[in-house]
Amino acid sequence: MAVITFANAKGGAGKTTAALILSTELARQGHRVVVLDADPQRWITSWAEVSGQIANLSVISHITPASLECHIREMKEEADYIIIDLAGAKDQIVALALALSDQVLIPVQGCAMDARGAVQILELIRQIEERARVRINHSVVLTRVNSLVTTRALQTIKTLLASRGVSVLDTPIVERVAYREIFDCGGTLQSMDETRVSNLDKARENAIALAKEVQALTPIKARRSWASRAPSWASRRAA
Ligand SMILES: Nc1ncnc2c1ncn2[C@@H]1O[C@H](COP(=O)(O)OP(=O)(O)O)[C@@H](O)[C@H]1O
Ligand SMILES: [Mg+2]
Repeated sequence: MAVITFANAKGGAGKTTAALILSTELARQGHRVVVLDADPQRWITSWAEVSGQIANLSVISHITPASLECHIREMKEEADYIIIDLAGAKDQIVALALALSDQVLIPVQGCAMDARGAVQILELIRQIEERARVRINHSVVLTRVNSLVTTRALQTIKTLLASRGVSVLDTPIVERVAYREIFDCGGTLQSMDETRVSNLDKARENAIALAKEVQALTPIKARRSWASRAPSWASRRAA
């Protein structure tokens, strides 16, 4: 089982969209996916209500700092991947989710506000790593990238962030109508109508590439000790 968290202290950065694209793709591949909807706005919960039953995927809502770790512990045997969608905040539940994650993905659209929200999460990760003496794997994922942006332009951003010690996924999430529609219509990229949603094939390919890269970075493993991953200070207050 692996815990993957989407975090950016700024709302609107693309966390929920990225979390849903990854979750539905992993479930499509046959992995058992549990999404912990830790955003009080409950976007993924609403999507699940519209969607009805989706094979291999379940959503748990009303996550609190007190319940987060219990849910992860309970799902340990049942899930291959636990995906956590957070609010655009830097609070107690964010700190706890980061501390419990095998992989933190930080969506950034390339605007200054997003970058500041990302920096706040990167700082919080560094503080947790120092205090709890753990390593939290994390990467920025560029999102809402214009489909015309060249690989070379993306490489420039990647190199810039890398020079500051931040790793960036090779797969950007492109701006696609399908990724908006999925919240309105419910269902998955597979259940959408190709004749009505433009570039649906490209949206599906992008989801596959994203999942492939994230899976390579985040092997599913048996977790032996949970206590060591949730420092007591993280469950008392945000850093
Ligand atoms: N790759 C994308 N393509 C198209 N629209 C996107 C994409 N990513 C995010 N959006 C849109 O941007 C807005 C904010 O995204 P969202 O995932 O809700 O961000 P967050 O969860 O960080 O607040 C939403 O309207 C969403 O539909
Ligand atoms: Mg969200």
